[in-house]
Amino acid sequence: MATYDLVVIGTGPGGYVCAVRASQLGMKVAVVEKNATLGGTCLNVGCMPSKALLHASEMFEEAGHSFAKMGVSVSAPKLDLPSMMNFKQQGIDGNVKGVEFLMKKNKIDVLKGTGKILGTGKVEVSADGKSQVVETKSIVIATGSDIARLKGIEIDETRIVSSTGALSLDKVPGKLLIVGAGVIGLELGSVWHRLGAEVVVVEFLDRILPGMDGEIAKQFQRILEKQGFAFKLGAKVTGVDTSGKTLKATIEPAAGGAAETLEADVVLVCIGRVPYTDGLGLKEAGIALDNRGRVQIDPHFATSVKGVYAIGDVVAGPMLAHKAEDEGVAVAEIIAGQAGHVNYDVIPGVVYTTPEVSSVGKTEEELKQAGVAYTVGKFPFTANGRSKVNQTTDGFVKILADAKTDRVLGVHIIGREAGEMIHEAAVLMEFGGSAEDLARTCHAHPTRSEAIKEAALAVGKRAIHM
Ligand code: FAD
Ligand code: NAI
Repeated sequence: MATYDLVVIGTGPGGYVCAVRASQLGMKVAVVEKNATLGGTCLNVGCMPSKALLHASEMFEEAGHSFAKMGVSVSAPKLDLPSMMNFKQQGIDGNVKGVEFLMKKNKIDVLKGTGKILGTGKVEVSADGKSQVVETKSIVIATGSDIARLKGIEIDETRIVSSTGALSLDKVPGKLLIVGAGVIGLELGSVWHRLGAEVVVVEFLDRILPGMDGEIAKQFQRILEKQGFAFKLGAKVTGVDTSGKTLKATIEPAAGGAAETLEADVVLVCIGRVPYTDGLGLKEAGIALDNRGRVQIDPHFATSVKGVYAIGDVVAGPMLAHKAEDEGVAVAEIIAGQAGHVNYDVIPGVVYTTPEVSSVGKTEEELKQAGVAYTVGKFPFTANGRSKVNQTTDGFVKILADAKTDRVLGVHIIGREAGEMIHEAAVLMEFGGSAEDLARTCHAHPTRSEAIKEAALAVGKRAIHM
């Protein structure tokens, strides 16, 4: 029987990063993966394919709409969807191969099959009707998440799709109806809208992107509407009639009232994700779940069974790849006897649309609710030189600082490249920095990041270019 120091179940960004860190710390490690390829949701049907399509569709959109004003004259771009899908697949393959390489480089055994926990120190790995049991000192559950489903609406991944089907449509839908104005709806809605689909988004709440700063979300909604998105807020889809050539979705106001019918070629259901624990044998092994079906852990990622830990989407917290990765590193260090730690107050979030939306720390709504006295500094990209010359002036930077200490509590950006820009705020916040620290840090000119410095100056009411 093979014996290990650590067996990690699942090779998404949580699992494979945990395995690499554990190997660096001298452990003998194996990963178990039931999927044909390594990398989990993120590499195969999540972050990476969606970003490939966002990039390609943005280029298509730019070539069609932005080149001419810069004096770049090209004929109207033609969409070759199979080639775009091939571009996406090449990106997936490249990244999956990268993870395979990392497993080899770090001498990590890859056990293909479904992992089941038989109790402390024992994992059964089953594939193709055969199974083996491996012994290990520690086990990390990193089995991720699955799509949340809508009662009565069956996802066939052709006409009624989840994000997975929406990443592989074989033609641009004439009308795309999206259920849920969260991250997936707005990112994948952007992809298909740029490629020619008419997009309607139905959202249960009275706002888009719940959890993001409200002022940013409002401006984002206006920008998306200008691009051609239609939103039906405070509404829910209660059924989809699939009998005809086009789908007929029934939409009801969330608060109750008369229903209406919307026709669509494709319906994308993206109303969140749920933890994935099927086949792990958690109940038999006595591993407790919380009231939302997530594996319950203590502050050191330990489950209710000795020697078994859990990280990533399968536990509480934001369902983000970088959160899973950081937890993977932390739990490997804890198992090795070190003080692994994740600072949940400084986990950036990015929506990779045009413009991008990024955020780290508290929103204004959260500070209000917690009764924290704060000051706000804002700076629009219309007043940022680089944005002006590039004629990409949508959006603004918003900094929230403690009214007494000036410590930065939250930074929210809507604008081109906001996803890259947020990290200086994250580093500042990790060091407990103030708006004054940020304002006095020299920023290269001309960059979009100067808008962050100006927003920090605006906290003290002394922005220069406004
Ligand atoms: P996963 O990546 O879900 O990996 C879990 C792995 O465990 C899978 O490979 C699965 O096959 C395997 N597994 C499950 N059960 C077993 C078992 N019993 N035995 C063996 N193997 C098993 N996050 C971001 O931060 N940025 C983004 O841009 C982003 N974009 C996204 C776009 C889409 C369309 C989606 C759906 C998600 C996106 N996410 C993004 C979220 C991100 O993908 C997840 O947060 C991340 O993948 C979670 O990592 P994980 O390691 O916890 O689990
Ligand atoms: P989400 O939680 O971001 O958004 C779901 C939306 O659906 C919410 O606005 C919610 O109010 C709404 N909703 C729920 N039930 C509904 C109903 N019955 N009718 C209408 N609306 C309803 O979830 P999403 O977009 O599915 O993404 C899943 C996860 O994947 C997210 O938690 C996110 O963290 C992760 N992700 C991250 C990305 C990134 O970091 N760029 C990109 C894509 C996904």
